[in-house]
Amino acid sequence: MKQEKPQKKGMARLLELGARKRGLIVSSCVLAVISVAVSFAPFIAIYYIIRELVVHFADLGALDTAYMINLGWLAAGSAVGAILLNFLALMCSHFAAFRTQYELKLEYTAHIASLPLGFHSANATGKLRKIVDENIEKLEGFVAHSLPDMAGSFAMPIITLIVLFVFDWRLGLASFVPLLIAYGIQMAAMGGGKSKNFMKQYQDSLEEMSNAAVEYVRGISVVKAFNQTIFSFRKFHRIITDYGRFAKEYTISFEKFMSAFMTIIGHVYVFLIPAIILIAGGADDYARFALAAVFYILFSFSLATPFTKIMYASSLGTQISDGIERMDRVLAAQPLPEAKDPKMTAGYSVSFENVVFSYASESETAALGGVSFTAKQGEVTALVGPSGSGKSTIAHLIPRFYDVNEGAIKIGDVDIRDMANEYLMSIVGFVFQDVFLFKQSILDNIRIGGKNAAREQIIAAAKAAQCHDFIEKLPQGYDTVIGSSGVHLSGGERQRIVIARAIIKNAPILVLDEATAFADPENERKIQLALSKLMKDKTVIIIAHRLSTVRGADKILVVDRGKILEEGAHETLVTANGRYSRMWEQYTGAMDWTLGARKGIANVRN
Ligand SMILES: Nc1ncnc2c1ncn2[C@@H]1O[C@H](COP(=O)(O)OP(=O)(O)OP(=O)(O)O)[C@@H](O)[C@H]1O
Ligand SMILES: [Mg+2]
Repeated sequence: MKQEKPQKKGMARLLELGARKRGLIVSSCVLAVISVAVSFAPFIAIYYIIRELVVHFADLGALDTAYMINLGWLAAGSAVGAILLNFLALMCSHFAAFRTQYELKLEYTAHIASLPLGFHSANATGKLRKIVDENIEKLEGFVAHSLPDMAGSFAMPIITLIVLFVFDWRLGLASFVPLLIAYGIQMAAMGGGKSKNFMKQYQDSLEEMSNAAVEYVRGISVVKAFNQTIFSFRKFHRIITDYGRFAKEYTISFEKFMSAFMTIIGHVYVFLIPAIILIAGGADDYARFALAAVFYILFSFSLATPFTKIMYASSLGTQISDGIERMDRVLAAQPLPEAKDPKMTAGYSVSFENVVFSYASESETAALGGVSFTAKQGEVTALVGPSGSGKSTIAHLIPRFYDVNEGAIKIGDVDIRDMANEYLMSIVGFVFQDVFLFKQSILDNIRIGGKNAAREQIIAAAKAAQCHDFIEKLPQGYDTVIGSSGVHLSGGERQRIVIARAIIKNAPILVLDEATAFADPENERKIQLALSKLMKDKTVIIIAHRLSTVRGADKILVVDRGKILEEGAHETLVTANGRYSRMWEQYTGAMDWTLGARKGIANVRN
């Protein structure tokens, strides 16, 4: 992927992005400038036609009609020519715009995919989506329209100046002064720091609204179940109102500038007419002067267009440059550093060496505060401990969803930071607590574990993971698309599909975080059986709440508040009379209690 180092900001950054398709953009700008120059020709031709008429007014028979007709054709031809050139300019710029947009979107999505999971939990999905959907989208308008417009519009005053001053410099000056004033107003309106600040607030509230909408829709079931509709809606409502207020304030802040600008630019003749009256008194050749005056008045109406175009371009520029800055901020987020000289490993034991890790750098208590252990190859290592103790955190660090703050994690003898990311992913298989299935067929969802797996292999894996039976019952069996109407999978069913995925992957290291938590005891036993076949000779790290699940593990680690309290096999730990033995007592006690309670009911019935 082409890695961009975005440093420039505002208009400079927009121009830099626009210049990605340099050839097309330069052609477009050159064509636009020529088009502007050609668009003057009709005025000049008409001027000469009128002059011919005025000069021969007394004796119309002396009119050079051929000359006039030629001028007429020239006027018509150059008007059409200017339009055609402008069309070509826009075609080039549109090609450039859509290609730039396409490339940027690809780069952006590839980039966010390369960022560590930590980035995604800190950045809401709505925000990242808005950048692709809106911020990058808006760049199209700028590159396709504003760039050629700006080129044309900057060329325009120069050409205008020449034309204006060639005919009569005094009238030229009279038309030029209002343009200068309008231009000054425009710069004052656009350049003010206030406008930039407004834009930032406006974008912030737009982003907030986008996030709130996603959250509101996603959480609607919870909101309804807890009868929180009004409360939750109020929050959403407040954010929408905020957004509305900003939009309004922003618009109103331009009211005075805009009115002044539009009034001046549209009424240049108001400046021109007094000048004409003043100068007319002292004119030597009255007819000639009258002609020039008519020309200037006619011409003054066409002056507004390029100036309004510059204005729209710079306003669009301010509007989208904030959005592009947001994109740049995401692009600037660093992917996990890739090893320069990637290493492979021969052994697959996993060892944590004094690992300290916290999710946010500013958080006071680290999620893991110095964790050391080794999970040997060919053994099952289990993590147990209360909720929030850091078990999942340990599991997530192994496939390097985050990097550790201190210490190291090694596979075999190699630090995982010295491995190529793809290689690391290929040797670690995992089933995590929060299961994610793609909107694809079940077959493809399992195939994520191994791209080349044949249908039969996938079915075998599904059988082992105890999901064959329910898949067969679905309307299209293995080809049923997850998330299509009428297809609903329970948490346990989804998890078993992910287990099948891990079976297909058959990686030498297997991390299972509550992989069988949703399964009923009968299914759990069957999955365990399938997994135990899969676990042979592998490094297995398993997290489970049910102590019965981990009882047979070779080594049990008791985790509490980000530290490992005890370590050993079940029998050793039970007799050690420590934390684990208490947990075990509670666990078996709870089982007895259930049985006891049931007996009680049975007794009453008897
Ligand atoms: N993405 C995250 N961002 C910030 N903090 C997190 C994140 N994930 C977990 N934590 C915090 O880290 C600590 C350990 O969480 P972890 O998920 O590892 O616990 P756990 O032992 O797996 O709990 P459980 O048994 O409930 O799954 C908790 O205090 C939790 O609030
Ligand atoms: Mg967990």
